[in-house]
Amino acid sequence: MNDLTWGILGTAGIARKAMLPALRAAEGCRLGAIASRDVTRAEAMARDFDIPRAYGSYEALLADPWIDVIYNPLPNHLHVPLTLQALAAGKHVLCEKPLALTLSDARNVTAAAQDAGRVVAEAFMTRHHPQWRRARDMVSSGRIGRLNGVQAMFSYCNNDPGNVRNQKAIGGGGLYDVGCYAVDTARFFFGSEPEAVSCLMDIDPDFGTDRLTTGAARFAGGGQLSFTVSTQSALVQQLTLLGSDGYLVFDAPFNCPADHPARLAVDSGADLLGGGRALLACPPVDQYRLQAETFAQAVRQARPDPATAGDILGNAATLEALARAAQSHRWEAISPTTNHAGD
Ligand SMILES: NC(=O)c1ccc[n+]([C@@H]2O[C@H](COP(=O)([O-])OP(=O)(O)OC[C@H]3O[C@@H](n4cnc5c(N)ncnc54)[C@H](OP(=O)(O)O)[C@@H]3O)[C@@H](O)[C@H]2O)c1
Repeated sequence: MNDLTWGILGTAGIARKAMLPALRAAEGCRLGAIASRDVTRAEAMARDFDIPRAYGSYEALLADPWIDVIYNPLPNHLHVPLTLQALAAGKHVLCEKPLALTLSDARNVTAAAQDAGRVVAEAFMTRHHPQWRRARDMVSSGRIGRLNGVQAMFSYCNNDPGNVRNQKAIGGGGLYDVGCYAVDTARFFFGSEPEAVSCLMDIDPDFGTDRLTTGAARFAGGGQLSFTVSTQSALVQQLTLLGSDGYLVFDAPFNCPADHPARLAVDSGADLLGGGRALLACPPVDQYRLQAETFAQAVRQARPDPATAGDILGNAATLEALARAAQSHRWEAISPTTNHAGD
């Protein structure tokens, strides 16, 4: 079967850093075209990555019949409209996180994909890293007892007013940029949907975006997520899965470099000095390449990507409720999505 031909919307940093190298290496995938609001930027990126076609508008790329799959790494406010346009043009779409900021937007996208008979997925590359699969297998096999808590921290410092993360009108802020990882992570490991959330935000007075956000969620079955994310604090990523009989700690839960093994510690809690601790390592992998290959397989086999419609809906419903809770200063219920997390 022919390779799937990918078209890239925009000249995003994440495309340059991670997805274009991954797509060049991915089995069953080839780079076909890239589009920018400025054709010279598209041409420059096309030269850098040997992409045969460059367009000066997103619409021109979507109209190219050679393109099978669209990768959408535009700013957050363009995820839904451009994904809908791409589906209407008959393309499959891998869209950057967070795909949708509201449940109603998520419903529009998943319904459009179903109607068009096309695959749509939210680009949580983390789900494709073997360390996540391994950790979930340990949780399901009871290695740490009953999973009670998921605790996540994701922080960096970016004060650039021109950065997409610091522009409220285009979907900036810490909750949407990195809080979405905490939400998706907890749904992945609990394998269920949260019922209610609370959220505290510190808003940057100049940008109007949340620069320090702490959230909590209560899951069906009693498990709890707690997380802190920040766009203006030290660089850190942490994830702990707390069980009744032990816990799991990830060295690099979200952005483990492709040339480094991913290390996990599983601790029985025998003492506080690591006496019950075993260290495990997964060999180095490019999680972005695995994401592209998995998506390509989903297209070929006409089945959902592991990040299913249920995940798109569940993530959006939770983010929407967290944003609401930050305003109301109350616990907010999650609107039912009628789907289940996980694959
Ligand atoms: N999965 C991951 O690991 C990961 C990591 C980082 C970011 N992301 C996600 O990827 C998306 C892009 O993030 P990024 O940091 O790569 O952003 P970025 O470097 O600023 O790129 C965004 C691109 O969108 C296009 N664009 C269209 N309208 C725009 C507007 N009003 N303002 C700015 N750019 C606009 C621009 O391309 P043209 O002007 O050339 O058309 C720009 O290059 C976000 O949704 C983010 O959450 C994911």
